[in-house]
Amino acid sequence: MKPNNFVSVSQLEEEDFWEIMETAKGLKGDLRAGKAHEVMPGRTLGMVFLKPSLRTRVSFEVGMTHMGGHAIYLGPDDIKLGERETTEDISLVLSRYVDGVMARVFEHEIIEELAEHASIPVVNGLTDFLHPCQALADFFTIYESKRELAGLKMAFVGDGNNVAHSLINAAGLVGMDFSIACPEGYEPDESLVSEARKLTKVEVCHQPEDAVTGADVIYTDVWASMGEEDVAGEKKSRFDGFRVDRNLAGMADSESIVMHCLPAHYDEEISKPVAHGPSSVIFEQAENRMHTQKALLALLMNQ
Ligand code: CP
Ligand code: NVA
Repeated sequence: MKPNNFVSVSQLEEEDFWEIMETAKGLKGDLRAGKAHEVMPGRTLGMVFLKPSLRTRVSFEVGMTHMGGHAIYLGPDDIKLGERETTEDISLVLSRYVDGVMARVFEHEIIEELAEHASIPVVNGLTDFLHPCQALADFFTIYESKRELAGLKMAFVGDGNNVAHSLINAAGLVGMDFSIACPEGYEPDESLVSEARKLTKVEVCHQPEDAVTGADVIYTDVWASMGEEDVAGEKKSRFDGFRVDRNLAGMADSESIVMHCLPAHYDEEISKPVAHGPSSVIFEQAENRMHTQKALLALLMNQ
């Protein structure tokens, strides 16, 4: 794999992407077969979290353990990123102790700064702008289910947020059509969409039915992301009608799958019968976070 860190899916060439997918498939198969794969003995991953997490934290930590390594959790009150010392110094110091850093931060510029100064791989565990590890797991999950990616259509119903941005990047990389339906004013970043449009079809619309018609994959995420608690009430009324329920899901292709990165707010962006229904691959996505991230770490940290 060519890049030496993973801040955005847009850093990947298509062959890097498929190398991650193939490696993840192998590691997942090994785990299922009870075969050890200690490909990172004695390696340590530093995990910096300024926001809460279930999946990201547990999947990275367990993944490191599976590979014979170890992970250290550094929560908001531990290193006080942004308060105690400069991000540059944190990056330089961590580079002297650990073999890789995964960080979940607010401003996207912080992860870029960590990556710029580190002499070890830095992985983006979510910023306000991107969630690239989620997109890797999601596209792995789609591929497992559909056996193809290029030419499929993904409909994203909801906020043009960090998760949507990384999915748009990934859709461009593999040639998947992408259609997002959001209320006016909640569209994804224009320049990110323009870049993706050089590679695939990206539609931005304001009617969930328009996005979902003919879709192979329906995706949704929370209306208010972490850090947006103060506007959650306002967004709840603006996003009324943007719920993935049986009626909306029924407008997609009959073989379509339903996805959500979790955590979910039932009866806001998705109904529980759909999230836990037969078309849902939500919990496969959650599991595949671990397999795809293990692959990513193994490729980045063994360069
Ligand atoms: N999907 C996801 O990133 O979940 P967490 O916020 O629990 O890590
Ligand atoms: N958009 C959500 C994703 C959580 C995994 C958030 O940023 O809170």
